Amino acid sequence: MGSGTIGHPAIESRQICKTYIGTDRRKSVALAGIDVSFNKGQITLLVGPSGCGKTTLLNMIAGFEKPDSGELLEHGMPIIGPDPRRGVIFQDPNLFPWLSVWSNLMFGPKMRGEDRTAATERAESLLSMVGLLKFRDHLPHQLSGGMRHRIAIVRTLANAPEILLADEPFTALDEHTRRKLQHDFYEMVSRTRQTVIFVTHNIEEAIYLADRMVVMSPSPGRVKEIIDIDLPRPRDILDLRFNEYRKLLFNLITPDVIAE
Ligand SMILES: Nc1ncnc2c1ncn2[C@@H]1O[C@H](COP(=O)(O)OP(=O)(O)OP(=O)(O)O)[C@@H](O)[C@H]1O
Ligand SMILES: [Mg+2]
Repeated sequence: MGSGTIGHPAIESRQICKTYIGTDRRKSVALAGIDVSFNKGQITLLVGPSGCGKTTLLNMIAGFEKPDSGELLEHGMPIIGPDPRRGVIFQDPNLFPWLSVWSNLMFGPKMRGEDRTAATERAESLLSMVGLLKFRDHLPHQLSGGMRHRIAIVRTLANAPEILLADEPFTALDEHTRRKLQHDFYEMVSRTRQTVIFVTHNIEEAIYLADRMVVMSPSPGRVKEIIDIDLPRPRDILDLRFNEYRKLLFNLITPDVIAE
């Protein structure tokens, strides 16, 4: 166990605590002293059973929510709210339905008054990377579910965020589409050595993507273990060592699953 040694911390969470009061006035300790660093240029996966605080922590890093206590830093500076430097990919693709694929991609750069040539080049290269350049004039409803997810990912990347945050973006997809998107996602973020913090409860997805894994446990939400995933890329889900990580993670997480 440790806080990881590769790269410099892009995000540091120091003793973050968050308690929610439910409608029945019962307290739920979503995060109880989270101490973890997320390193620059690494893909860190946040995993753990339902209710362990993955989304709460990610929302705080995004700047959507504030901790009750503790410090949350981006390159040593406190996070005080949302910022385009921290791009978020949501579970629901959330595209603007009235805008074409191209306009969806250019929306963020345009709003920020970014140089048009640079933004155009980036958007074109991202769309061709996911094989969807020929769909640039389509509206979101003219695309399949998997395509919409790919466009949502490249729309976030079109803003050239320093840090990419994703909360279970592939959970709603069928197995084949999910595997394809995991592959595409890795190809995209590895080219730019993007710093990624990715939430999933899917162990296989986590091992496939992660340089490093932060395993959380619930009630109260804590960091249980931090594991560096030492497997060559591209990863083979049928590989023996992949399976060893699968067992390790399964044994770590299963005892913490709370029956609902
Ligand atoms: N807005 C809220 N009001 C009250 N309780 C909340 C709120 N948001 C989260 N919680 C509670 O905080 C705890 C952590 O929730 P969180 O959504 O972060 O878990 P999670 O790990 O993302 O779970 P899942 O895998 O199901 O998405 C849970 O007990 C949840 O019920
Ligand atoms: Mg969640």
